Amino acid sequence: MTLAQSPELSKALKQQKARVELFLQHKLDNLDINSQCLLDAMKHGLLQGGKRIRPYLVYAIGSLTNTDEHDLDAPAAALECIHSYSLIHDDLPAMDDDDLRRGLPTVHKQFDEATAILAGDSLISLAFDILASHPYRQTQPTSVLEMIKLLSKHSGYNGMCGGQALDLSYTDQSVDLQALEQMHKLKTGALISSAVMMASYCSDQFSESDREHLANFARAIGLAFQVQDDILDVTGETETLGKPQGSDIAANKSTYVALLGLDNARQKADDLYHESLHALQQLPYDTRLLEAFASFVVQRNH
Ligand code: IPE
Ligand code: IPE
Ligand code: MG
Ligand code: MG
Ligand code: MG
Repeated sequence: MTLAQSPELSKALKQQKARVELFLQHKLDNLDINSQCLLDAMKHGLLQGGKRIRPYLVYAIGSLTNTDEHDLDAPAAALECIHSYSLIHDDLPAMDDDDLRRGLPTVHKQFDEATAILAGDSLISLAFDILASHPYRQTQPTSVLEMIKLLSKHSGYNGMCGGQALDLSYTDQSVDLQALEQMHKLKTGALISSAVMMASYCSDQFSESDREHLANFARAIGLAFQVQDDILDVTGETETLGKPQGSDIAANKSTYVALLGLDNARQKADDLYHESLHALQQLPYDTRLLEAFASFVVQRNH
C-alpha cells in the first residue's frame, strides 16, 4: 500500500463529488415542497459536506465501459440521498445520539427530532423518485427497474436498515466475529455494493463473470470501509472526522476494534484491501483508479 493518495484519484474524487453535488443541489432547489423547514433540514443533511464515495464508485465503475455520466447521475444521486438519510437517522438520540456530522450540528440538533425523522424519510422517497424519473439516454427501462429493485433491497430490512437493527441489538453485548461481519456487511456494505452494481446496470457491456468480480470487489471494499470507520472512531480526531471521535466506545458498540483490538482490526482492513485488488485483477478493464480507491478506503483519515 502507498501512503500518499494518488493525484489521479484525488482529482477524480473531487470532480465526481462536484458533479453529484451540482445534480443534488439542482434537485433540491426545484422541489415543489410545502414546508420550508423540512426542505432546509433535507438540504442540511444532504448538501453540506460528505466525501461522496458512493457516487464516486458509481462513476468509477461506469467509466470502465465509458458509460454516459448523465445516466450515472441518477444512481449516484439516489445513493447519496439514501446514505445521507441513513446518517441523519443514525445520529438520532434513539440510535447513536451524536451531535456532530460532517463538521456541522446533526440535523436533529440544528432543527428538532421530528424534523430530522421527516427529512430522512423524505430523502428515501426522493432517492426512488430520482431513479424512476431520470431522463436516461441509454439505460433501458428494464435496467432502471433492476436498479430500483437492488436499491430497495440493499437499503431496507435485508440491507442497511437490517444492519442498523443488528447494530442496536449488539450494543452492550459481546458478539462473535461472524455476527459482527454480517452486521457490517448489511449496515454499510449493502449500500456500497449498490453503488457498484447499479453502475453496472447502466452498461450492457459487462459480462456475467465481470459482474461476479465486481460484486466480489464491492463486498471486500464495503466491509473494509466499515472496519476503517471503526478504526477511525478510536484513532481519528473529531475535527478531521467531522463527527465525534470515541462515539462507539462511549456507546459501548460492537466494533472490529472492540472485538479484535486495533492491530488485528488493521490487519483485517489490509486483508480486505488485498481481496478487493484480487477481484479487480480478474476484470478485463483498466482498474488502476479503483485500486487507488481501495487503498484510500483503508488509509483514509476521515
Ligand atoms: C459514514 O459514512 C458512515 C458509514 C457507513 C461508515 P461516510 O464515511 O461515507 O460518511 P460521509 O458521507 O463521508 O459523511
Ligand atoms: C453507520 O455506522 C452505518 C449507517 C448505516 C449509517 P456508524 O454509526 O459507525 O457510522 P458513523 O460512525 O456514525 O458515521
Ligand atoms: Mg451507528
Ligand atoms: Mg453512528
Ligand atoms: Mg462509525
